[in-house]
Amino acid sequence: MELLSECKASEIFEGQVVVYKHLYAYLDSMCLKWCLDLNIADIIHNHGQPITLHHLASTLQVPPSKINGVRRFMRHLAHNGFFHITRLLHDDNEEKEAYALTIASKLLLKGTQHCLAPMSNCVLDPTLSGAYHFLGKWTLEENLTLFEISLGTNLWDFFSKNPSYLSFFNESMASDSQMVKLALKDHSAVFEGLESIVDVGGGNGTVSKIINDMFPKFNCIVFDLPHVVENFTGSNNLSFVGGDMFISIPRAHAILTTRK
Ligand SMILES: C[S@@+](CC[C@H](N)C(=O)[O-])C[C@H]1O[C@@H](n2cnc3c(N)ncnc32)[C@H](O)[C@@H]1O
Repeated sequence: MELLSECKASEIFEGQVVVYKHLYAYLDSMCLKWCLDLNIADIIHNHGQPITLHHLASTLQVPPSKINGVRRFMRHLAHNGFFHITRLLHDDNEEKEAYALTIASKLLLKGTQHCLAPMSNCVLDPTLSGAYHFLGKWTLEENLTLFEISLGTNLWDFFSKNPSYLSFFNESMASDSQMVKLALKDHSAVFEGLESIVDVGGGNGTVSKIINDMFPKFNCIVFDLPHVVENFTGSNNLSFVGGDMFISIPRAHAILTTRK
């Protein structure tokens, strides 16, 4: 039976566009990874003004055969909101396309308060993101998590056996958590009347430290798996406690828990 025999060719092509759009959607993430791997945002920032393709390619020491690839990726990223395309007068008096930072690419600059580069690198890590190839298998398995299928172990055990991945993950969570500062600035009333809080799955305590900075009298307990907190030291109003949240959690006036 020909299911599409009633459809016009233009309708079938529209369907094809939907399929292809999703087939290649990963190129959005891969271009972002390319931008992070080559530190493009930092290069533009250090340049101090919009950068031309020529200048970017020479800073990156791109072989001539790949310059066109750089142009395509930069245009793709511009289309997706990571750069503005402007025009600059070049030394030869000719106007050249140049790329400027947007808010999204400023969030990738290293060493800034709201740097999301560690979060982005972790999400795009091939080992971790590779898990999403197994969604079909996961759906049909009664008890296995996605990471148990892809890594052969649950994510937290994988981190405990791979300390470099654990720091990589903790840094990524910390970079994501920095954004909490922006929310707290306008919503501090949420914490009024409380004296203590337990941050369940609190990682390296980034969120708790932010809360402590805003409310110095507040007592924060960062609760996470023992191997996660074992090397962190607290202060007089912040403590790290190791344990399993499925067994028990320390008592406090409020519980903070994040689910990503
Ligand atoms: C998505 S991360 C959240 C990190 C942290 N809240 C932040 O914003 O930076 C989840 C955290 O839960 C912790 N975790 C996982 N299973 C746990 C358990 N059974 N008991 C306590 N913590 C656990 C992980 O080690 C990880 O640090």
